[in-house]
Amino acid sequence: HRIVVLISGSGTNLQALIDAQGTPSLPDAKIVLVLSNRKAAYGLTRAQNVDPPIPTQVLALQPYLKANPGKTRNDYDSEVSKIVLAASPDIIVLAGWMHVLSDTFLGEVERENIPVINIHPALPGAFDGVNAIQRAFDAFGRGEIENSGVMVHKVIREVDRGEPVLVRTVEIKKEDTLEDFEQRLHQTEWGVIVEATKIVLESRGKKPSA
Ligand code: GRF
Repeated sequence: HRIVVLISGSGTNLQALIDAQGTPSLPDAKIVLVLSNRKAAYGLTRAQNVDPPIPTQVLALQPYLKANPGKTRNDYDSEVSKIVLAASPDIIVLAGWMHVLSDTFLGEVERENIPVINIHPALPGAFDGVNAIQRAFDAFGRGEIENSGVMVHKVIREVDRGEPVLVRTVEIKKEDTLEDFEQRLHQTEWGVIVEATKIVLESRGKKPSA
């Protein structure tokens, strides 16, 4: 199974996938490309440090628009899908990819019938969007929630309608600092992203291809 991972940052979730590939946690799976929309993303270094190195590419939005006058955000997304599809993935994993992918991207990968999953550091329906961890922590402080969690969901064209693949609750303790909670949450993410990738790859293997 060929995995393409899209990142923007430190890439700890990518690292979890790197460590799991080819082990019983993620058998017969190989990360064939890491694409970042930020040149400075440390996840790129993680990919390059693997032996043999995992191929990496960078496509950043603003430089792309500057270098290609007249091109739009849709053209950028289309370029992203071209790069990703050229790697012939069986699954596309958004692991901290900080752009919402447009219809253009999803339309093109849907046509090829390739599943796209995303990890989000909150429970389904709660704290969509950015700063979810901080917002959950603050809501706990105000007594509005008892715990939070992590989910991996399918990414489909209808924004925020993708069904969850795997959801895990993460406890918030009274004595937690934000950092304590963040640490526990990220550790949960690393397990969840690997398991969810395995679930989707296995279910894909069973379905007759459309
Ligand atoms: C994770 O918390 C993920 O849930 C969110 O962005 C963060 C990425 O972290 N979407 P990393 O780059 O995998 O370390």
